[in-house]
Amino acid sequence: MAAIQIQELVKEYRVSVRSKGIAGAVKSLLIPEFKHVRAVDGISFAIEKGETVGFIGPNGAGKSTTVKMLTGILSPTSGSIEVCGMNPEKERKRIAARMGVVFGQKTQLWWDLPVLDTYELLKHIYKIPKPVYMRNLDMFSELLGLQDFIKTPVRQLSLGQKMRADIAAALLHDPEIIFFDEPTIGLDVVAKEKIREFLRYVNREKQTTMLFTTHDMDDIEQTCKRLIIIDHGSKIYDGSMDAIKAAYGKERILAVEFAEKVEPLSYPGVETVDRQGSKLWLKFRKDEIQVSQLINRLSQSYSIVDLTVQEPDIEALIREIYLGGIRIEPSLSGVG
Ligand SMILES: Nc1ncnc2c1ncn2[C@@H]1O[C@H](COP(=O)(O)OP(=O)(O)OP(=O)(O)O)[C@@H](O)[C@H]1O
Ligand SMILES: [Mg+2]
Repeated sequence: MAAIQIQELVKEYRVSVRSKGIAGAVKSLLIPEFKHVRAVDGISFAIEKGETVGFIGPNGAGKSTTVKMLTGILSPTSGSIEVCGMNPEKERKRIAARMGVVFGQKTQLWWDLPVLDTYELLKHIYKIPKPVYMRNLDMFSELLGLQDFIKTPVRQLSLGQKMRADIAAALLHDPEIIFFDEPTIGLDVVAKEKIREFLRYVNREKQTTMLFTTHDMDDIEQTCKRLIIIDHGSKIYDGSMDAIKAAYGKERILAVEFAEKVEPLSYPGVETVDRQGSKLWLKFRKDEIQVSQLINRLSQSYSIVDLTVQEPDIEALIREIYLGGIRIEPSLSGVG
């Protein structure tokens, strides 16, 4: 049985439409008019136990809406959802015992209480056996460095401390599945690294299934083996992180500085992607043209001052997928 399974999931929001001006305001007060916005438009996927999945897409793609349906907060317009074999909306309480949720923008910790008091409350709410609670608390304290602030009221914590405390709170009851919505938003690089390392450890040790929505591609690259990309409520990619890298890893950028200003160039297999003064960034496919051939060719016509070859980073690849500039082989992506 898959840990998470959704089929043809659709969510429409009803939003009120108001005509302009005072007359319009009065009219919509008397005869309210609505339109439907399709935030999620027929998404299907299955996630197996222990998988780490990055669930990404541009702003407004429908990520948070999907996560809210998966956690039972929102009810779908149509389609089916199963989480741990249950319907999240109908069995919200039973499912809560088996899932954890972290919203980077919102804390589940009691604002005025010390962190530890929230943990004690959660222990009672989830009926966590004492040995499990103690073991997890020890482990999380050590790995996330909670001991420095565990007795401090939450409102006095820094963003990074709060986030670490929040993640521990969501994992105290050993959930099988955990949903993260922007778990490292606003954190510094060291704090982000610590959290990613912690999540990798938890996934390895406990086979926790993890679904991340984030705009931080390093989060995804370092924690997720699989990627699901959505846009305008539809799935546009579903496949391994490695498949993306392999498919696009063939592209390289040659940054060349010339002795004088040059016009953008294009050869077969080579295109200019950027230009600043006398510097050009040329994208080429290394299976079509070797870098030495390209440099040779350039140096025959121009005088070169400096050059570097750059690997495309994951962020650039994803940006191209969002923009529709890259098509993914269905055999690689698993879509359809
Ligand atoms: N409560 C709501 N009422 C009406 N429309 C909504 C509501 N919540 C979201 N939407 C709309 O649904 C679409 C999807 O929103 P959603 O929050 O799921 O996107 P997202 O992928 O999480 O984006 P982001 O990356 O900005 O967090 C957007 O067009 C948004 O305006
Ligand atoms: Mg969102």
